[in-house]
Amino acid sequence: MDVATSAVFDRLSSLADPTRSRILLLLERHELTVSELCRILQLPQSTVSRHLKALADVAWIAARAEAASRLYAMPRGEIDPAARRLWLLVREQIEKTPAAADDQRRLRSLLAGRRTKSQAFFSSSAGRWDRMRDELFGDRFHLAAFAGFSDAGWTLGDLGCGTGRVTAALAPFVRKVIAIDGSAAMLREAKARLRGIQNVELRRGELESVPINDGQLDAATLMLVIHHVPEPARPIAEVARILKDGGRLVIVDMLPHDREKYRRQMGHIWLGFGDDHVRRLLTGAGFGQVKVVALPPDARAKGPALFVATGQKNVSRR
Ligand SMILES: C[S@@+](CC[C@H](N)C(=O)[O-])C[C@H]1O[C@@H](n2cnc3c(N)ncnc32)[C@H](O)[C@@H]1O
Repeated sequence: MDVATSAVFDRLSSLADPTRSRILLLLERHELTVSELCRILQLPQSTVSRHLKALADVAWIAARAEAASRLYAMPRGEIDPAARRLWLLVREQIEKTPAAADDQRRLRSLLAGRRTKSQAFFSSSAGRWDRMRDELFGDRFHLAAFAGFSDAGWTLGDLGCGTGRVTAALAPFVRKVIAIDGSAAMLREAKARLRGIQNVELRRGELESVPINDGQLDAATLMLVIHHVPEPARPIAEVARILKDGGRLVIVDMLPHDREKYRRQMGHIWLGFGDDHVRRLLTGAGFGQVKVVALPPDARAKGPALFVATGQKNVSRR
């Protein structure tokens, strides 16, 4: 007898016991612990453990550890097609039995108990949840996660990429990021940060003549850049050139402020941008669907308030 045939017979004999088939019926759709199975099947732990071992020995089920518990389940998708056909035949018979119907009733009550436990947690912790969430996961992971709205096929431009923080945040979600900056020193930092990330291309260039061919990008960002540029209309016109029709631009910069010293300290040319100014820049360059939204201030931030402006390149009429 070849190996495959003998494996099918092993699996067949493990299902010959009705309790084992009932267990498999439960574990086909749910991950359960031994004690949960004991409650559903109304059997002692030693009996359930013995059956679980027999099922695991022929790979009907697999276990994984979670904290102090072991959770058992049928590894769906990993069972070979011959075994799957065998199981479907047995399942058709076993699910009609009164014992299996009782199991399903007790399973439903057990799952409802799990839900009640999490509902009880949320009703008692609603007032503390924000603090707990921040303690457990930090207060900005959801912002990083929003990059997941990007299309996986996109090519993005991070224009004025500086040390590459935006590029690093976006690269895992898209096909490619082209990161451009005029400063060799900034690009060195970006190169160090982005080492090992395959889908990033760093290019040195000016934003008034971006080194990217026409219509190459799906989306682009100018993050904390345009206040350094004497004529912000020029990089924005460049973005319109290098985007595909319908491509999106995201600008983040400062709202109007009076920190004159930034001109001396950091070479700022513009002390922020008002809503109307940003709208004119975007519509003037051929963007529609323009939105300008003030960002909520970060309690730890010392700089001026920021806005995000978004627009979509109008479809050209050829
Ligand atoms: C304040 S940094 C912001 C960097 C990055 N976007 C970020 O959010 O951390 C501005 C960057 O824009 C670049 N930059 C400013 N004007 C530029 C221009 N005309 N052409 C190319 N790069 C420019 C600077 O070299 C600098 O790296």
